[in-house]
Amino acid sequence: MNKAVRSAVIAGNWKMNKTPAETTALINEMKPLVADADCKVVLCVPFIDIPAAVEAAKGSNIEIGAENVHFKESGAYTGEVSAQMLIESGVKYVVVGHSERRQYFGETDQTVNLRTLAAVNAGLTAIVCVGETLEQRELGYTETLLKFQTKMALTNISADQLKNIIIAYEPVWAIGTGVTATADQANQGNGYVREAIAEVYGKAVAETVTVQYGGSMNAKNADELVAMEHVDGGLIGGASLKAPDFAAIVKAASK
Ligand code: 13P
Repeated sequence: MNKAVRSAVIAGNWKMNKTPAETTALINEMKPLVADADCKVVLCVPFIDIPAAVEAAKGSNIEIGAENVHFKESGAYTGEVSAQMLIESGVKYVVVGHSERRQYFGETDQTVNLRTLAAVNAGLTAIVCVGETLEQRELGYTETLLKFQTKMALTNISADQLKNIIIAYEPVWAIGTGVTATADQANQGNGYVREAIAEVYGKAVAETVTVQYGGSMNAKNADELVAMEHVDGGLIGGASLKAPDFAAIVKAASK
């Protein structure tokens, strides 16, 4: 991390876990454990849990995010949720283009870009996910793919709007597998993302953008990962469902 030029952000991505009642209990357990964090602390939760999460996090340093957002303001899009709906519910962040959405729900680089634009234009901070599959890595396309996904996601985003963008490098082969990228692999992937931003917006701007690592990050490996120059925090799946584990990661990023 380089806290002198950019924010460190630890964000949980709860995926499809926790009911509203469980949300209240988990956030109440987390609050005292992360109260003295020297990084931003975010929990991205299922839509149905947002009211409970916002209520439980009130008065604390935990900010609430959603896990997806639709790109239209309103209309006949059954089952979808707009950026304005999220804003009015007290949401500040939203995960966009997670690999699970790309894999299971037909998310493309174009829809990731549209969702990113909708989120940022409404005043949300978008946590945009990019990452290669194992096959793409083994074929030697990691750099090409990460740069392509990053640039596609940021199409029509102004340099000024980058203040409200976080990119999360999540190698697909490291998500939920227990296989973490090594600190060097994470730093290299995050570095490719930063280079892609620099190629479009210039190096000075790219240095200010928070780039997280995600993929089996946990209480044990967090220290080593966040010590890397380009790893400005993490997007945490499984370990964000356990208060002590999540708090340990927050602590690692607070050093
Ligand atoms: P895990 O931490 O469970 O591997 O999930 C990472 C992730 O997908 C966060 O968005």
